Amino acid sequence: MRILILGGSQFLGRAIASHACAAGHDVTCAARGLAGPIAAGARFVRIDRDVADGLTPLTGETFDAVVDVSRHPGQVRRAVAALKRPGVHWTFVSTVSVYADNRIPGQRADSAPLREPVSADIAHSTDAIYGAAKVACEQAVGSDAFICRAGLIAGPEDPTGRFAYWPARLARGGEVLAPGSPEDAVQLIDVRDLAQWIVHAAEVRLTSIYDGIGPARSRGEFLAECASALDASCTFTWVDRAFLEAHDVRRWAGPRSLPLWLPLPDFDGFMTRDTSPAREAGLTARPFAATARDTLHWLRASNGPVVGLSADEEGAVLSAWHARGVTAAAIRPGP
Ligand SMILES: NC(=O)c1ccc[n+]([C@@H]2O[C@H](COP(=O)([O-])OP(=O)(O)OC[C@H]3O[C@@H](n4cnc5c(N)ncnc54)[C@H](OP(=O)(O)O)[C@@H]3O)[C@@H](O)[C@H]2O)c1
Repeated sequence: MRILILGGSQFLGRAIASHACAAGHDVTCAARGLAGPIAAGARFVRIDRDVADGLTPLTGETFDAVVDVSRHPGQVRRAVAALKRPGVHWTFVSTVSVYADNRIPGQRADSAPLREPVSADIAHSTDAIYGAAKVACEQAVGSDAFICRAGLIAGPEDPTGRFAYWPARLARGGEVLAPGSPEDAVQLIDVRDLAQWIVHAAEVRLTSIYDGIGPARSRGEFLAECASALDASCTFTWVDRAFLEAHDVRRWAGPRSLPLWLPLPDFDGFMTRDTSPAREAGLTARPFAATARDTLHWLRASNGPVVGLSADEEGAVLSAWHARGVTAAAIRPGP
């Protein structure tokens, strides 16, 4: 099969190219060449999707399948106009951030309400309109495509440093600040599993809308499995939302965050999606342990990025947590 990946020079796109090459397909990656190298065995075509004639280097080429990872409606509209022809299998990688309601657990891709799309004259996405821009991208692609709404993607070569916080932190051992409660849900997908599924979808010409994410598991299991896989000796101190927020511990990603933590109940539905349709359509999810081990290996080999609380920041929050009873007793008025 001749596969075109619009992207392919970063994390998921590169993993898709790598799996497609390993499966014996003829793979072309088209990008500016700024984000990074493409997978070994793939062909690179330099394009710029932000200019009107930016896809010209692909003129005259034919493909059996196209995979697009863009988040920008203008780029997606241009690609659809130039390359989406009858018979070409089209995959658009979207996101679970398209959903309007993050509170209700167990929602399914085929029925969950979506955000309003950004207006048609918005060509470029930003973090603030990411989900709404992806809705507009999905609409530009149309319903005869494979729309894969990825959840949190983890694993080697992740440029966000988000999942990497946990293997890096657990490997240091000792007392670990853990957010919320061990029963809270965690849901993610290893980049290699998602890539394999996207290649499989093109091979079997799967269409329709799916969430591309593994099953929900508890955060307690997540941390215990990752620590065990890394041979790390850790104890976990579970700290509630109110305390974390009062101590400026931030959600999800970035500086001062505890990555993968979202305040509940506001996000009860974000990492508890019903992924049985994806599983039935061929998506498999490797154990957390494998993702954690391989991510740590990659971090050590490549000095890859890690974001989140620093060791000092984590220590300060833990100290304050342990001191809270003492402080409360000290300020309690006497009899
Ligand atoms: N990471 C997560 O946890 C997560 C969660 C949910 C969904 N997703 C979705 O999963 C996908 C991840 O894709 P990814 O890892 O491959 O990263 P990405 O950041 O989406 O990669 C963008 C790709 O497009 C190329 N590109 C950007 N601007 C371009 C332009 N003007 N012209 C041509 N090419 C351009 C980039 O290469 P150059 O810079 O070299 O041009 C790069 O290869 C995205 O769709 C994202 O929205 C991610």
